[in-house]
Formats: sequence, C-alpha cells, structure tokens
Amino acid sequence: MTRYHSRRSFLVAGSTLAAGLVATLRPLAAQSAPVKIGIIGSGRQGGAIGLLWAKAGHEVFFSSRNPQNLKELVAQAGPKARAGLPDQAAAFGEVVLIAVPYGALPQVGRDYAAQLRGKIVIDVGNPRVDRDGEVGKDGLARGTGVTSKEHLPGARLVRALNALSYLQVTKEAHRAGEKLGIPIASDDQAAIAMTVRLVTDAGFDPVVVGGLARAREFDAGTPVYVKGLTAAQLKVALKLP
Ligand SMILES: NC(=O)c1ccc[n+]([C@@H]2O[C@H](COP(=O)([O-])OP(=O)(O)OC[C@H]3O[C@@H](n4cnc5c(N)ncnc54)[C@H](OP(=O)(O)O)[C@@H]3O)[C@@H](O)[C@H]2O)c1
Repeated sequence: MTRYHSRRSFLVAGSTLAAGLVATLRPLAAQSAPVKIGIIGSGRQGGAIGLLWAKAGHEVFFSSRNPQNLKELVAQAGPKARAGLPDQAAAFGEVVLIAVPYGALPQVGRDYAAQLRGKIVIDVGNPRVDRDGEVGKDGLARGTGVTSKEHLPGARLVRALNALSYLQVTKEAHRAGEKLGIPIASDDQAAIAMTVRLVTDAGFDPVVVGGLARAREFDAGTPVYVKGLTAAQLKVALKLP
C-alpha cells in the first residue's frame, strides 16, 4: 500500500468513526433539546406545572381564552415563555398539557381536534360531580383513562400529574431527599418516555403504572390521590414491581 493509500484509508476510517459518533450523539442531543409545550388551561395546576417546565428550559406556550390575563405568569416563566389562545397553544406544542375543568374536556377535544391530532397530550383533569356534571360523573364511574381517550380522540393521550395538588406541585418540586412520585399511564410508549422526561425535569419521580386502563388507579378519590407519596411508596400502593 502506498503512503497516499494508507493516509487515505486513515482519513476514511476517521470520517466513518466521526459519522458514527455523530449518529450516537444525535439522539442524546435530541433528548436534551428543549421541548415545545403548549398549555391549555393555565390556571392553578396548568400554570404551576408550566412554570416548572419553563424553569427547566423548555419552551412553554401558556394559553387562556383571555391571554392578556397571563402577563404575570409569562413574566415569571422567563424569556422563552409566551401566551396566546388555546388553539395557538395546541398548534405550538409537540406536547400539550390540558388542565381545564373536566366538564370542559369534550368541548376542548372537539374545538382543537385538528391541532391535537397525533400529539402527545398530557391530561391532568380530575372529574368532579359538583363542578363537571354528567361528564364528571362518567369520568369517575368509568375511569379517566377511558373517558379522556373518548374526549380526545386522535391524541397520544397520557394521564399524569393529576394526582398531586397545585400546592404540592409548587412546594415539593425538586425537594431534597426522596422526590414525590408521579404516576403515569398511557398506551403509547413514546408518549410515556416523553412524560417520564418531563416529570423528571419538573422535579418529581416518574412511576409508570401501565396502559390507560390503569389510570383509574390514581384518579381523584383513590388511596394514592394527593397523598404525597414517594415513588417507592406509590409502587407498593399500586402493586408495581
Ligand atoms: N388545582 C389543583 O390542585 C389540581 C390538581 C390536580 C388536578 N387538577 C385538575 O386540573 C384541572 C384544572 O384545575 P385548576 O385548579 O388549575 O383550575 P383553574 O385554576 O380554574 O384553571 C382552569 C383553567 O382552565 C381554563 N378553561 C376553562 N374552561 C376552558 C375551556 N372551555 N377552554 C379552554 N380553557 C378553559 C381557564 O382558562 P381561561 O378561563 O383563562 O380561558 C382556567 O385558567 C381540573 O380538571 C382539576 O380537577 C387540579
């Protein structure tokens, strides 16, 4: 082999190695890239969770039917945060958090169906009979994994971040020692992986419970609901390995 050929093979091998390294690092970089998150319902729960994600470096689009009311929240969330109408938030997010009164979920699902189709949608709503009427009654009876899926057809639905109060969200995020556990249910594995990442970024310990059918195990009124359990305690309570 001539000197030219051995130098050329060295260069080819070098560039192949570099290409391999880039291919390996690309998914890692993508993992740490900020996520575009739209929030429908930026009240107590949606506002508190959105703030944590903004502080973790994600791009958060808060929304309200009266977005002028969100100036203070956006200022608190920092320069990458913004606010607009719910359809704009739904269109913006690669992930959309829905935190509206449960009775409004069918209308939200209908009105923003086009923007939500194919997206990861984390629904944190909890049905209540006094506030949500028949929709709430139905959610409590059949479990939110089933009813939210019907209200949000076409979305890659995740149930998570519903079993803690907005005060726990604000006070317990990133706490020292064992973190608060957050149960997660979805039929979509990639949506679960994204939610695990976002729950971790928010300062909690994700606990994957299973498919949507199991979401009812951490619905409002269950023994684990707003109890402030760690991941280890949640696993025992929900009989997870
Ligand atoms: N608060 C908690 O501790 C807690 C904990 C876990 C789960 N949750 C659940 O999270 C959901 C929200 O509770 P919250 O306490 O955050 O309520 P909230 O403070 O009253 O905020 C609800 C937000 O939903 C928006 N909204 C209402 N109807 C809407 C509609 N038709 N379309 C679009 N947006 C609508 C309102 O926005 P605009 O009026 O500004 O448009 C409002 O800011 C509920 O299902 C609740 O059960 C709450």
